[in-house]
Amino acid sequence: MIREILTYPNPKLRVISQDITEFDESLHMLLDDMYETMIHKNGVGLAAIQVGIALNALVINSVNENGEQIKEDLLEVINPQIIESDGIIVFQEGCLSVPNVYEDIERFKKIKVKFFDRFGNEHIKIYEDFMAIALQHEIDHLRGHLFIEKLSYLKRKKFEKEWKKRPKEKV
Ligand code: CO
Repeated sequence: MIREILTYPNPKLRVISQDITEFDESLHMLLDDMYETMIHKNGVGLAAIQVGIALNALVINSVNENGEQIKEDLLEVINPQIIESDGIIVFQEGCLSVPNVYEDIERFKKIKVKFFDRFGNEHIKIYEDFMAIALQHEIDHLRGHLFIEKLSYLKRKKFEKEWKKRPKEKV
């Protein structure tokens, strides 16, 4: 089921998400809906809070070298913790909760993440470049943060001015 995505400045996007303790059918339904919603909106990542659910769950589906977004590459991440980080990378990010805004953001280039899959199995994995960036962006959502908070003072002011003037989205 496609769910509604909350957009800035909805205050719910600032809520700190809670850890998941039950790896049950309702979690699987949430993850399936998040995937469907993300694909429907042409996104590559989505955190549960973006559909109004304050739980530590996120999905990322990167585009492969052939320019295709295939479900085999879908990564579902529950209760993530970044346990190591290294290097710096700047990448132009966007967000389904801040539609049509793209800004250069600085992130760690490489991270080691501990997380659980939908069945409650623990994983510790190293991600680099795009996957590291996407994970940091989505984990920020779980902590109540948006990428625009990382903009410089002047860029943020410019963003706020333009955001107020934006044409309202058709539903
Ligand atoms: Co986002």
